[in-house]
Amino acid sequence: MDNKKVTINTLSEMKANGEKITMLTCYDYLMSVLLDNAGIDMMLVGDSVGNVLLGYENTLPVTMDEMIHHCKTVTRGAKRAFIVGDMPFMSYQVSIEEAVRNAGRFIKEANVQAVKLEGGQEILETIKKLVSIGIPVMGHLGLTPQSLNVFGGYGLRGGSQEESAKILNDAKELEEAGAFSIVLEKIPANLARQITLNLKIPTIGIGAGVNCDGQVLVTHDMLGMFEKFTPKFAKKYAEIGKEMKQCFKDYIDEVKSQKFPSEEHSY
Ligand code: KIV
Repeated sequence: MDNKKVTINTLSEMKANGEKITMLTCYDYLMSVLLDNAGIDMMLVGDSVGNVLLGYENTLPVTMDEMIHHCKTVTRGAKRAFIVGDMPFMSYQVSIEEAVRNAGRFIKEANVQAVKLEGGQEILETIKKLVSIGIPVMGHLGLTPQSLNVFGGYGLRGGSQEESAKILNDAKELEEAGAFSIVLEKIPANLARQITLNLKIPTIGIGAGVNCDGQVLVTHDMLGMFEKFTPKFAKKYAEIGKEMKQCFKDYIDEVKSQKFPSEEHSY
């Protein structure tokens, strides 16, 4: 791994060379420093910050101001990784003008390198406009959590022939509109493979099988910190949540029993 800042060009070279792209979500400075030092290629300041850190039921209530706040802390911590800011629900759907103003805030105020928008055909004109004024756009197809109420849940997408054809077609149109990469969430592995083979831009999978050009997970899921809900695709690399709880219990016990602070921690 070299220490040069990852750019859009790095990502397309990685696809061309068959080198997998790594991405994890990040919502704060401390995690950003840790991820960057570990050598992650991309960080997504996802609107999943709503469920994971802010205590909302889903991503729908997340505001532009909340996203900008979290993006600012993440970009201060990362030297190498490419940072993508997730545009929250209703920040790009009302009009292209509003989408431009809000996407512009991510770049000007929060210093991210790109924004991510959920959706296919319905956002093509918005993507074209953003790219034309210099704002790189990442697409997001398959399970799109901001449409939770239309789909009635977080089920698999692209399971039927019709839905799978639509997702493939949307992916091609996003590429034509100028998106530099697409997140594919919770779709059959075969469909993700077909999309990946058909596109020049990198696909980043989450619950979309091994044949995408890269993978993304919610960091707090893979660390075993977010216990409320863990999807099948979220492999746990640790049980940090359990470890943290044990540390808190040990501290409580030691303070109550006057074992802490000992001589060693006193003046
Ligand atoms: O908000 C988010 O974390 C995301 C990922 C699940 C791709 O959009």
